[in-house]
Amino acid sequence: MCGIVGYIGPKNPVDVLVEGLRRLEYRGYDSAGVAVVEQNGEISIRRAAGRLRDLEKVLAQSPVTGHYGVGHTRWATHGRPTEENAHPHRDSSGKLVVVHNGIIENYVELKRELEAKGHEFKSDTDTEIVAHAIEQEMTNRGCDLPTAFRAVLPQLRGIYSLVCISADAPNTIVAARLGPPLVVGLGQDEYFVASDIPAILMHTKDMVFMEDHEVVIVTPEGPRFVDVEGNAIEKKAERIPWDPIMAEKGGYKHFMLKEIHEQPRAVRDTLLGRVSLESPTIYLEEMNLSDEQLRQVERMAIIACGTSWHAGLVGKFLIERLAGVPVEVDYASEFRYRQPLVDAKTLPVYISQSGETADTLAALREAKARGANTLGICNVQGSMLTREATGTIYTHAGPEIGVASTKAFTSQLVAITLLALRLGHARGKIADDEFMEIVKHLYHIPAQMEQLLADDSEIEQLAHSFQHYADFLYLGRGVNYPIALEGALKLKEISYIHAEGYPAGEMKHGPIALIDEKMPVVALAPQDGVFEKMLSNIEEVKARSGVVIAVTDGESEELKEKADAVLQVPPTHELLSPLLMVVPLQLLSYYIALLRGCDVDQPRNLAKSVTVE
Ligand code: AGP
Repeated sequence: MCGIVGYIGPKNPVDVLVEGLRRLEYRGYDSAGVAVVEQNGEISIRRAAGRLRDLEKVLAQSPVTGHYGVGHTRWATHGRPTEENAHPHRDSSGKLVVVHNGIIENYVELKRELEAKGHEFKSDTDTEIVAHAIEQEMTNRGCDLPTAFRAVLPQLRGIYSLVCISADAPNTIVAARLGPPLVVGLGQDEYFVASDIPAILMHTKDMVFMEDHEVVIVTPEGPRFVDVEGNAIEKKAERIPWDPIMAEKGGYKHFMLKEIHEQPRAVRDTLLGRVSLESPTIYLEEMNLSDEQLRQVERMAIIACGTSWHAGLVGKFLIERLAGVPVEVDYASEFRYRQPLVDAKTLPVYISQSGETADTLAALREAKARGANTLGICNVQGSMLTREATGTIYTHAGPEIGVASTKAFTSQLVAITLLALRLGHARGKIADDEFMEIVKHLYHIPAQMEQLLADDSEIEQLAHSFQHYADFLYLGRGVNYPIALEGALKLKEISYIHAEGYPAGEMKHGPIALIDEKMPVVALAPQDGVFEKMLSNIEEVKARSGVVIAVTDGESEELKEKADAVLQVPPTHELLSPLLMVVPLQLLSYYIALLRGCDVDQPRNLAKSVTVE
């Protein structure tokens, strides 16, 4: 999950590369480096272990200028995050450099073959062998850089987005994609290659999304796309509807806090143009699935990872309740290896914020190979998921930079609610009055979120009291059981506190053994059909000296007496309560992580988009 930027044009490439890498740091931040072809035609490299700011210190002490170059911020897969393992990597001559996102699975055998031909290696990475392999092809064949680059690709096993420049190929950047994303930016007499949109959005909104097995040769005249054999490929540019400011922090201390506060607008934008307050109609044309096809569906599978998988669990409740279709929810990393039972009567739905998660894409291809129509729910236009699925329901959350997913998650909940309503209506399973009741409540969610977000001082205060605990248990029931899982994931991934989510009814089957004064319990207790059950669970915890933070959506003196703290959210339709119940949990994890001095936007060992297995 590294970040790559390439630039050719009139600007100082170091400025463009460093700024681009700053917007990609969420993809990986173990080390960083740039390589620039200077005016004298030589390649200069600057690299640093650690964060981008460490590379900037190196550049300040030893500046470099030129007229084109490549940059990289790393999430270590092979070789520790040290300077010598940082990208870019050179060949033997030092005149050719490569940056890489992905994993070359057969790099050891390739390295042995190249060593036998006299190549010497300086790093422990898989990437370095690519630079030497290209050099070997150029030497063997006496060919140019693009030809040598294409000749190496079939030798590589694994996944990669690769970008390469050579002092022997002036004013040329070559790049290839197999797996991790690559996008080509089209500026005014300047061109860009990047791992993700935010890296180059401040320069251009016109982009070309590369697909697997495609190669691009970028020169000052522009990009030329070919396949691995060198045959020309026609590609169309897309205009990205995001404003560069949206990818900035906008005055917030962290992207995560900004994105928590952007949820009202993200929900509003995801609803926009898709619902009517007059008739039971849901507009989802981009699904590419007719009502007749929806009526043919006999079962569904929702496949995702992490937070997106939690959205899938909520989706199960909604779809089974509103459309009467049996739904199984599966981790993509499990589904893809299980020879899944999928046929033309199954509708697999893939939920992914980035649309580039390797396991999710692999699971999609498993289902397509079995003849199923596939549906994506995704936040990034042009991402692989949106290109490979039969249809996509877009979440319009805008760029989500913080590694911990927040606004994309609630937007996914809205998208899956719309799908459940559309499915239920197409199959005649939901009465018009209930349909309109849910739509009416959905319409009010953004304003209710704004009400919730207007004052988070109580949650910030609570974080002070709970920042030192080593373990947390989150409990929920029914449609809020997935929110217990999501709250636990939020806390663990940014504060590094161990946290588990559990169905509250499971307490007696094990977790209750954990309860004592050192184990805070966050209990999701909306005043729904299982509220009394949640009260009993809270009593069981209190009887064992546990500490309880309750989240509820109504007034209850009994709850106030039993719980140590009660967080209030506005009431809504019980099937929509996850949209509001999750917000205090996002804020609680944010403030606890902040108090613990954790890097909220770039938590250790994580990356925003897991494009490798
Ligand atoms: C969520 O906060 C995490 N960053 C992670 O679990 C994430 O949801 C998961 O990696 C899936 O990513 P995707 O939605 O881009 O596929």
